[in-house]
Amino acid sequence: MRQIASHVDTGSAVFKENVEAYEKLVATLRDRMEWAIRGGENRDRSIERHLVRGKIMVRDRIDLVIDDHTPFLELSSLSGYGQYDNAAPGGGIVTGVGLVEGVPYVFIANDATVKGGSLLPVAIKKHVRAQQIADENDLGVIYLVDSGGAFLPLQDEIFPDKDHFGGSFYRQARMSARGLPQISVVMGGCTAGGAYVPALSDEVIMVEGIGRIFLGGPPIVKAALGEVIDPDELGGAQMHTRVSGVSDYMASTEREAYGRVREICATTNARRIDDRQAWMDWVEPQPPAQPPEDIYGIISADHRIPFDATEIIARMVDGSKFSPFKPEWGTSIICGFARIWGHLVGVIGNNGIIFSEAALKATHFIELCEQRRIPLLFLQNTSGYMVGKDSEAAGIAKHGAKMVAAVANATVPKYTVLIGGSYGAGNYGMCGRGFEPRFLFAWPNSRIATMAADTAETVLVDIREGGMKGAETTEEHLAEIRAEIRSQYETQSDPYYATSRLWDDGLIDPVHTRDVLGLCLALAARQDEPAPGPGIVYRM
Ligand code: COA
Repeated sequence: MRQIASHVDTGSAVFKENVEAYEKLVATLRDRMEWAIRGGENRDRSIERHLVRGKIMVRDRIDLVIDDHTPFLELSSLSGYGQYDNAAPGGGIVTGVGLVEGVPYVFIANDATVKGGSLLPVAIKKHVRAQQIADENDLGVIYLVDSGGAFLPLQDEIFPDKDHFGGSFYRQARMSARGLPQISVVMGGCTAGGAYVPALSDEVIMVEGIGRIFLGGPPIVKAALGEVIDPDELGGAQMHTRVSGVSDYMASTEREAYGRVREICATTNARRIDDRQAWMDWVEPQPPAQPPEDIYGIISADHRIPFDATEIIARMVDGSKFSPFKPEWGTSIICGFARIWGHLVGVIGNNGIIFSEAALKATHFIELCEQRRIPLLFLQNTSGYMVGKDSEAAGIAKHGAKMVAAVANATVPKYTVLIGGSYGAGNYGMCGRGFEPRFLFAWPNSRIATMAADTAETVLVDIREGGMKGAETTEEHLAEIRAEIRSQYETQSDPYYATSRLWDDGLIDPVHTRDVLGLCLALAARQDEPAPGPGIVYRM
């Protein structure tokens, strides 16, 4: 592989302006992450109550379980942002991947300082998404349960459908049967449906005095049977560990319980993070020769000004080395091989609109990676496939469809990062959420929508004008419609709107992207080789 020769002038005034603008985006990201940790309406009061009861904050709990000096990859920290009156930081649940005794696990931990840890629609989506990540990457799950169960006022959005509560229990039971450890620590209420999280776990630890499991709490028992009963007597740690056997271990403090989880994890006989399997091509990693921090200056402060994907790749891959595929053909897509933290990957990045040749080149490249069992990384920055008379006549619809079909059928691990725009069918061909990449992250400058706000304004005004034929339309009225559409598209394509709804697995700082992807690839490297597809390479 050759080292990419960068053409970026890091001393230029434009570069400096871009850096300044991007640093503001990163500062906003950090502020909003802080909101997820401590912010939200009435949160101070809830946090104080939580701490006064001697309970530990959710992220500190995770810290007490994972190995010292190892990273925790928190997912979708900003889920719920701007929803539910901004009163549900993180959606009231923390998920992520961390190491315990050298083995990676997915963590699903309720945050009792947000609506008593009850599960809002976004929380159940996040819970199920974390389980899906565990399933795809062959990871056990550690549930830190401190939850009021279903968020009752919105029960129709969390209870009945596929991937609602039932779906979470279905996944838990199936993962356990597949030998992926399901371990619960109960240090809060587990009422009704919530009781099934520990009940379906392989091993359960309850913390005395604060952990409770019951199908119906004391008020329900009183209403149904007229029995008046103390919550600990009904479903506390002693009762469940010594009488019912719903729990396997009792801990007198949370800290003791987290020590016990680590003990359990030492006996799961699961593959460690460094247990790389032979199918994954890996060599000693090297840092990029070009500093990742340059990315701030490469991305223009004006999102309409394009940037070169190759310059981004140079700042993300080992030694900034890249072996391009078909570099002279279909140049609106860059394809090639590189290494990230030592793992060989096939990288596909956009340089603007996708033309027919570029779609065919990407299809060919995806098939090569599929045949050679090389994971794929998609770097999305496109306004979509080319439109217009010439393009249609050249068959852009069928060429784009070949790329979409190749992505859908590739069985190697796929990863996607939104480094700029993700518009139209470009989102599909470049492995958007619907194409089930193992992980999908976005940068704070990214945008995602059917089309950009400028285009939407024109298209929708034309459509509405067509519908208003014969009626009086004034310039003022059209201007009003235009402003309304623009505002809608700008709001809905904003990365915070997207991440709040879990259209991605989190917003990340461009500088951290290489490390995040390195961890994701390491998870795949310890798995057996995925069953291959048909493996034919058609020359496009
Ligand atoms: N649905 C909606 N909101 C809930 C909730 C639920 N299942 N459980 C708790 N909350 C909310 C409370 O309304 C309160 O909201 P606020 O901060 O806006 O005032 C907040 O969570 C904290 O609840 P609170 O009862 O004050 O805290 P607590 O620490 O004393 O008790 C629980 C926490 C979870 C033990 C208790 O709230 C509880 O038993 N909840 C109901 C459990 C239940 O029956 N679930 C059935 C699920 S099917």
